[in-house]
Amino acid sequence: MPVEEIVANVKTLWKFDYEPKIKALRDLYEVAKREQWNAATDVPWDLEIDASGDILDPSQDAFRELDAIKALPEKTQTELSVQNAAWILSQFLHGEQGAMLCCGQLVEAVPDIDGKLYAATQVIDEARHVEVFHRYLTRLHHVYPIDPTLQAVLNQILEADLWQMKCVGMQVIVEGLAMGSFKIMKEGSRDELLRSIVELTAQDEARHVSYGLIYMKDELPRMPEPDRDRVEDFAFAAVDAISGRRPGTGFVSQMAILEQAGVDPAAVLPEIQTKFTDPEFIASQPDPIRDHVLPQLGRIGLITDRTASRYRELGFEV
Ligand SMILES: [Fe+2]
Ligand SMILES: [Fe+2]
Repeated sequence: MPVEEIVANVKTLWKFDYEPKIKALRDLYEVAKREQWNAATDVPWDLEIDASGDILDPSQDAFRELDAIKALPEKTQTELSVQNAAWILSQFLHGEQGAMLCCGQLVEAVPDIDGKLYAATQVIDEARHVEVFHRYLTRLHHVYPIDPTLQAVLNQILEADLWQMKCVGMQVIVEGLAMGSFKIMKEGSRDELLRSIVELTAQDEARHVSYGLIYMKDELPRMPEPDRDRVEDFAFAAVDAISGRRPGTGFVSQMAILEQAGVDPAAVLPEIQTKFTDPEFIASQPDPIRDHVLPQLGRIGLITDRTASRYRELGFEV
């Protein structure tokens, strides 16, 4: 396996004043220490899963609603569903590693001791998440590569020169995306072990989003305007890349599941493309960016008169 190399533009800041200054972050640090769990012993790993059975509830799986998919043999439909779960969970796994790397950077780069202590707890949270998703995926026998769009966004966060970009990019946008995706996975999963993993992980992610919101709500108004504008632009670029509202954006590697499940892409892709780009269908589906990320960006004042029209051009109501 190749090792990806990123040259990170991080300033390491030491802080010799150890007195708590941001009470809400110090409180969150206490919660984070208290709520640690052990991925090896607190997860019911002895629950059996049937890797050939439905992991995702067919009634919640958009693929299963397509006529071209319904026309496939039942066994192929189930295999496709397993591969879909494996693809989604592979992206969770790679995203968790990205989060761990980014949090390591936040420990170095944030200027406040409260922010450093809390970020240190998140490094171990993300390590735990890498551990559980990898261990679960072992049972599905296939780990998909990181999606190029996800990797590009994570790289931009890791390479960003302002710590506030890292904090908004990871703690608000990527963590918000994770929260929304975990909710969908929990509601759409039939597998008790997977639901338990997602539930434990989501508890941590909720704290991670809180960190971003608490920290950035006070920090952004203090920033010099040109830097603040850069953070706003950075946030929009990440949303634009991930949300898939323009051709060529969004996650682009999911259709690899077709070949892995033995489905001829030519037989199903036309219907998938028509259905998944239909505005009515998009509006009827849960959307982590629309439902979780944009409200949080709004709460910290990052969708402004200067940038709101760009979000509207993507079809979001802001
Ligand atoms: Fe995580
Ligand atoms: Fe996280």
